[in-house]
Amino acid sequence: MAPQKISGIDPSRVPRHVAIVMDGNGRWAQRRGLKRTEGHAAGEEALFDAVEGALEMGLRWMTVYAFSTENWRRPLDEVRFLMRFNESLLLRRRDDLNERGVRVRFIGRRTGRVPKRVVKHIEDTEALTANNRRMTLTFAFNYGGRAELADAVRAIAREVDAGRLRPDKIDEKTIGRHLYAPDMPDPDLVVRTSGEFRVSNYLLWETAYSEFVFTDVLWPDFRRDNLWDAVREYQQRERRFGTVGEGDAL
Ligand code: IPE
Ligand code: IPE
Ligand code: MG
Repeated sequence: MAPQKISGIDPSRVPRHVAIVMDGNGRWAQRRGLKRTEGHAAGEEALFDAVEGALEMGLRWMTVYAFSTENWRRPLDEVRFLMRFNESLLLRRRDDLNERGVRVRFIGRRTGRVPKRVVKHIEDTEALTANNRRMTLTFAFNYGGRAELADAVRAIAREVDAGRLRPDKIDEKTIGRHLYAPDMPDPDLVVRTSGEFRVSNYLLWETAYSEFVFTDVLWPDFRRDNLWDAVREYQQRERRFGTVGEGDAL
């Protein structure tokens, strides 16, 4: 399906990969006198509207931060809710995503406190959608950027230990190959909602040269138009990657 023309967006410069920090569910709920968990539930509509908007725009890679390695520190009731909620969301939505040509993947640790049943559903969903190529939707779930780097270092150390890799051969590509999704392009654009200006351990290695767009919108209020606004802002930016700007060279 060809991407749609979206006003103010240059279709030839749509970012390859947009990563989103879906933040502000708790505050959205509290402002309405609801429980924090009702904010998480309301975030589902935001996510699937953003997915629609991403597909319409022709985005190939979208990654969403669903649960961080630090989120285990939240009250047990909220953690339990989030585990069950993410599981049910997957079960309810995976056929629809599959029919739309979306490949669903997960990055993060699948060990520790993540219930085995949830891991099974993750694996089943990845297998179901593995051959889809229209867009890859990656859930960062029990994900931490530092954990990802620690896991990469451990895997590299094992190869050194087994005599398959010489320490002086380790370079940036070696590290890239040991991340959770080695084939995933670095995000061009990171969007964070709810007016927070921080990274919160998201894709630390991968965002070395990403553009950041922050919005005050709380995640449950986010819609495809907000995604398109972020892409419009992205298209105004000049990316330099450490070089000099166009026309600035001597
Ligand atoms: C983001 O919303 C969802 C998760 C972190 C799982 P929050 O729950 O962080 O909402 P706020 O930031 O407390 O408003
Ligand atoms: C980041 O949001 C994690 C997710 C959106 C899943 P947090 O709400 O956990 O981040 P902090 O605590 O405000 O930094
Ligand atoms: Mg938050």
